Amino acid sequence: MEKNKRSIIKIVLIAGARPNFMKVAPIIQAIKKHNLRNKSSPIECQLIHTGQHYDYEMSRAFFEDLLIPEPSVYLKVGSGNHAQQTGKVMIRLEKVLLENRPDLVMVVGDVNSTLAGALTAVKLHIPIAHVEAGLRSYDREMPEEINRLLTDSISDYLFTPTEEANENLIKEGIPKEKIYFVGDVMVDNLLINLKRADKSKIIKQLKLNSEYALLTLHRPSNVDEKKNLKNIFSALQKISNKIQIVFPAHPRTKKRIEEFGLSNYLDKRIRLINPLGFLDFLKLMKEARFVMTDSGGIQEETTILQIPCLTLRNTTERPITITQGTNILCGNNPRKIVKEAEEILKGKKKKVRPLEFWDGKTAERIIKILAEHH
Ligand code: UD1
Repeated sequence: MEKNKRSIIKIVLIAGARPNFMKVAPIIQAIKKHNLRNKSSPIECQLIHTGQHYDYEMSRAFFEDLLIPEPSVYLKVGSGNHAQQTGKVMIRLEKVLLENRPDLVMVVGDVNSTLAGALTAVKLHIPIAHVEAGLRSYDREMPEEINRLLTDSISDYLFTPTEEANENLIKEGIPKEKIYFVGDVMVDNLLINLKRADKSKIIKQLKLNSEYALLTLHRPSNVDEKKNLKNIFSALQKISNKIQIVFPAHPRTKKRIEEFGLSNYLDKRIRLINPLGFLDFLKLMKEARFVMTDSGGIQEETTILQIPCLTLRNTTERPITITQGTNILCGNNPRKIVKEAEEILKGKKKKVRPLEFWDGKTAERIIKILAEHH
């Protein structure tokens, strides 16, 4: 990183979509801690919100729950197809970066805003740090896989959550010196908020008096094709005869359910509710009998919480949650989903093995490395 005259490191931190917010929160906290300890060489962090997600439940609610400061710039790109969304972030972000000339642009995760942030920075010759580097599902039909591959290939600091992620990067020819195995910032965020989540009143609000399973669903491969979504709902219907399912639904999924005329599957047993803030969702996850999801981060969070997780996808970029955690891949195969849910209800539980560096100190390690390289 180039030194600027005042010995302040200027970082632009980019967030845009729901799964980014829980990753930037611990990084911002670690920067605050660093600045308290290192008054002569503080880090100045400018948070930029691209606006990829904009509904209260998809964005603002997370800023409030995770105590994330107001972004200094809001790019307001909104929804759109991939090229539009990525292009809009790049055009608007370029102006901001040219004005501010940061020492480093930090991007997190694998959403379109992640790739757009990295691409804009690399063209301006600004070094890039990628938090959550090296994850691979080896399924290039997932837009996130393309975002991961491209972001990693142009990043200067690749902060990885697992040894497997290091190996993926080495296989792709990324020089070892750029790779830093630091652990998982999602775990930092989970551990920071576990006690706070216990104060959530969500269980009472939803009047959940008995056992329940928790469901999230938003991947295009599951929700954008009627046949696939119907397959999943037919499995859910069978499971709901044995246990109630609570379903905080992504706006995309709600739209598809209506469009495909599948609302008849939803009732008290498969209970669709609005998307939840982080603390309410964490509380529901913690108390659930099991979780069904196609999210990436939830696979990790359930492993840390030791709650069984059925992942409704054929691949995962987080295989460690299968080999060492509570995760089981089911795809959208109704028979497999029902079978695994029944096994869990009969008492099957996978043992969780300790994961290196999933200790709540990842963000601090990242900031320490960046400060040392300044
Ligand atoms: C994005 C990420 C995905 C992540 C997910 C979590 C990409 C390629 N995908 O997918 O990796 O798991 O966020 O939520 O970046 N919408 C709203 N309100 C909002 C945001 C979206 O109604 O605040 C609706 C719009 O109809 C929009 C659709 O959701 O078209 C999809 O939003 P988009 O940001 O394109 O992708 P996600 O499916 O949310």
